[in-house]
Amino acid sequence: MRQIWIPKAGPPEVLELREAPDPHPKAGEIRIQVEAAGVNFADIVGRLGIYPDLPPMPVVVGYEVAGRVDALGEGVDTAWQDRDVLAISRFGGYSDVICVPYRQVAERPPGMTADTGAAIPVNYLTAYQLVHVMGGLRSEETMLVHSAGGGVGIAAIQLARNIGARVIGTASARKHGFLKQLGVHHCIDYRQEDFEKRVLEITNGAGVELVLDPIGGASFKKSYRVLAPSGRLGMFGISSAATGKTKSLTSLVKMLALMPWFQFTPLSLIDQNKGVFGVNLGHLWDEIERVRNWLQALLDLYEKGVVQPVVDATFCFHEAAQAHHYIQDRKNVGKVLLVPRK
Ligand SMILES: NC(=O)c1ccc[n+]([C@@H]2O[C@H](COP(=O)([O-])OP(=O)(O)OC[C@H]3O[C@@H](n4cnc5c(N)ncnc54)[C@H](OP(=O)(O)O)[C@@H]3O)[C@@H](O)[C@H]2O)c1
Repeated sequence: MRQIWIPKAGPPEVLELREAPDPHPKAGEIRIQVEAAGVNFADIVGRLGIYPDLPPMPVVVGYEVAGRVDALGEGVDTAWQDRDVLAISRFGGYSDVICVPYRQVAERPPGMTADTGAAIPVNYLTAYQLVHVMGGLRSEETMLVHSAGGGVGIAAIQLARNIGARVIGTASARKHGFLKQLGVHHCIDYRQEDFEKRVLEITNGAGVELVLDPIGGASFKKSYRVLAPSGRLGMFGISSAATGKTKSLTSLVKMLALMPWFQFTPLSLIDQNKGVFGVNLGHLWDEIERVRNWLQALLDLYEKGVVQPVVDATFCFHEAAQAHHYIQDRKNVGKVLLVPRK
């Protein structure tokens, strides 16, 4: 098999393509010939060396793949053989062959390509947890989503529009046209405009009922401030710590220093009728049945045409560094994939 390794923290060019013997599935595992693997922001934070969950380097990252089942471990139902599947992997996804516990695998609905399949697990499960499970978004409400043009952002927009909610998105200006086509009512170029001021202008001072914030640092404070009474803030990332192509301790410390350490107190939440919650999909490995239920709900929404993954770019394995540059240069509108056999 071929795998993309992170041998040490550094710029995208540290990514290294290596060969190794194919793995054999252990009891309860399914082996997949990978046709597409998702690239996620967490992989970049891992490569920078600031991702606390990352196993020690050298490491193969990657949380999601799609492909065809070619071998089964002991105890796995033989009906899985040769099925087209998508899967969640606990690291190791940047591989052209991978073994995954069968409970982390789902059959792809008829007609779903591997590219579409690999674009679903992380982005849509995260968005589902944020919008439906914990955000409880309702049709009469307004949602503000940051990084609206990224994989999670687009997934959240599709779910929110299906609920019937109004959506405000922040993104780089060149993505606004596409986001409007997706049904976003107002786009904010947060790099030129103060999003707090703009959200209050757009809502005539009322604020919004749900904010999805993966930026971290001072952004959490501002997002909290634009919540209307009964509003909820979902925090799920720290993108603002990833300012360059290599680790910046200054950015990390600044992001941490600007966090709202004292803004959300039990009494202030009660007094202001506001809620805050956190989401980390990567910490739900012991909750796989819960996650499987969400995935099934998402596959049902795919069949209804609600979930429509937007794949922006595919890169061959030897172009993995370019894939990381593409995301860090903020070029992606939707999902970026690695494709072993392009
Ligand atoms: N907690 C969880 O379970 C979970 C799961 C998935 C993702 N996440 C987090 O959600 C965020 C988005 O993930 P994603 O996979 O949707 O991302 P993505 O598709 O890779 O999108 C990245 C986009 O984020 C925006 N961005 C904001 N700050 C950035 C920075 N410092 N450097 C580069 N880009 C930056 C850029 O768009 P604009 O310039 O247009 O804003 C960029 O195009 C990340 O912070 C990620 O860690 C968390």
